[in-house]
Order: sequence, then C-alpha cells, then structure tokens
Amino acid sequence: MPIDFSKPLYALAPLAGWSDLPFRETVKLFGADLTVSEMISANALAFNPRRSERLWKKSPLEAPYAVQLCASDLKILQQAVEVINDQDGVDVIDLNAGCPAPKVVRGGAGSALLKDPALLFSMVSALKKISRKPLLSVKMRLGFGTKNGVALSKACEDAGADFLTVHGRTKSGGFTAPVDYEAIGEIKEKVKIPVIANGDIDSYEKALKVLEITSADGIMIGRAAMGAPWIFAELKERRRSVSAARSAALSHFDACIKFYGNQGVLLFRKHLHRYSRGLDKAAKFRREINNETDVKTVRGMIEEIMGA
Ligand SMILES: Cc1cc2nc3c(=O)[nH]c(=O)nc-3n(C[C@H](O)[C@H](O)[C@H](O)COP(=O)(O)O)c2cc1C
Repeated sequence: MPIDFSKPLYALAPLAGWSDLPFRETVKLFGADLTVSEMISANALAFNPRRSERLWKKSPLEAPYAVQLCASDLKILQQAVEVINDQDGVDVIDLNAGCPAPKVVRGGAGSALLKDPALLFSMVSALKKISRKPLLSVKMRLGFGTKNGVALSKACEDAGADFLTVHGRTKSGGFTAPVDYEAIGEIKEKVKIPVIANGDIDSYEKALKVLEITSADGIMIGRAAMGAPWIFAELKERRRSVSAARSAALSHFDACIKFYGNQGVLLFRKHLHRYSRGLDKAAKFRREINNETDVKTVRGMIEEIMGA
C-alpha cells in the first residue's frame, strides 16, 4: 500500500482555488503526509486534458499523491480516468462525493452521489474497473439531506474503495453545521477500510480529540491550512516555530512564481491576504499588493511585513 495507515495520517484537503501545486508543495515542507489535487471535473479532463494539466500535475515532494475527480457520467469518467492512468506518480484516484456547490449538484456530481447508496456504489465500482492506479478513495459527507453515512460508506467499501475520507456534515449542513464526529466513528466501526476524519480540525488538541472520538486512521485539514501551511507541524508535533510564517509565505511565493510565472503574483494575492491576517499594517499591505505586479517588489514586501 503506497499509503502508511499504521499511524495517524495527516492529509491536506482538496481545496478548489487554493490547494494547487505550489500550496501542496508548501504543506509538504511542514509534514503533510498526503496531498490531494483540487477537484477536477471529469468533463474538463476528458475534453480538454491539456488545459487541466495544471490541476493534476504534482510536485516531486508529493508522495503519496491523490487526484480528485468530480463526475456524474460514467462514459466521461472513463475518458477522464484514462488521462490520469497515463500519468506517473499518482497513487490514488479520489472520487468527490461531497461538493455541495449548486452547479455541481445540479449536474449530478459531488454530493448528488450521496442521494442513494446504489448510485454511489455504481460510480465507485465503475471507477474501480477503469483505474490503473494503486488506490481508490472516496471523499464523502454523512449524507445528502439526512445522515446515512454507514450505508453510503458500506456501498463504497463493497464497490472496492480502498479508503474513505468523511467530512462529518451532510450536504445540507454546508460548511457551518456542527461536525458529527460520533457519526464518523460509527462509520469507522462498520467498515474495514481505513477512514480519514474531516471537518473543523484546527488545533493539536482538536486533532487528538477527533482521533479519540472517531478512532479514525487519519485526519484531513482544509480551511485551517489556508494561510497557515505550518499547521501540519503543529498538529503532528505540537511544534510552533516562530519563523514558520515567514519561511512558509516566502517558499510558497517562490513555488507559485516557478509554477505560474509572472501570473503567480496575481494568484498569490489571496494567499497573502491570509498570511498577513493579524499582522501590524496588514490593511495597508493588502492595498499595496493588490496594485503591485512585479515579482521582486512583491517578494520584498512579503519579507518586510513578515519580519526578520
Ligand atoms: C475553498 C474551498 C474549496 C474546497 N474544494 C474542495 C474540493 O475541490 N474537493 C473536495 O472534496 N472538497 C472541497 N472542499 C471541502 C474541504 O475539502 C473540506 O472537506 C471542508 O472544508 C471541511 O474541512 P475543514 O473544516 O478542515 O475545512 C473545499 C472547501 C473550501 C472551503
């Protein structure tokens, strides 16, 4: 198994618009065990593989690495998986069964797959037949409108999923309903495959508590890593390095420029808004970087605001 589940695994959540290669590379520097691509639409991959290349490309630091696909149509899914089958270094294909975005759900993908365990079963078993990658996983929620996580997770297991990530909310719960860690624990008890717990984990203490309540094989961190990729070092080792923010922001910026060229300056702005939260003169800094496009100048501004 290219993933070691013998001790708790710490994974970076797929975060559309955020967890691109430069960001994933940065969290690896702080000890993330598993990284997952942003959600990639099977349609985009099947019909325009070149344009989606930036989404699935991985850094050499990423091992193990998962590519997440979002799909509703089996034929298109097959074409998309064939593109990924040809790429080296992808250990896992992950099926998105949790995205609540109306556009995605209307198209029958994401959390729409949670409406019926039989539907989820058919998608996962089709994926199992098509994929030539070592592992297959599903990132799911506890249900669509009501909680039926056990039936859904068993459908995934029976269809051949090798592990699951469970965000402890239903689709209706969006991103703010209380996370039901007990329900994740119930799933863990009922399936034999590894289960990763996800939802609102943002501190060392919370990570330990979630691992205790759920008995999960790992935890996945999303929003708490945005603008704070060093959180993996904190969660795993309770280590808080004073210089982490500065070195993270700078190496993340450098990785972004390397990957995107000058366009990286614009793409990095949202990250800088996060990195600068709570810092002295953050408002002025944000105004200034929003108007600056020169790589060297922006790097200098980051050095200045993040201190020596
Ligand atoms: C900006 C943003 C983008 C997201 N993109 C994805 C995605 O592409 N695929 C996916 O499965 N989940 C996606 N999610 C959900 C997260 O992976 C995660 O399940 C959720 O945020 C709960 O975890 P957290 O509380 O640690 O953030 C996204 C969430 C956010 C906030």
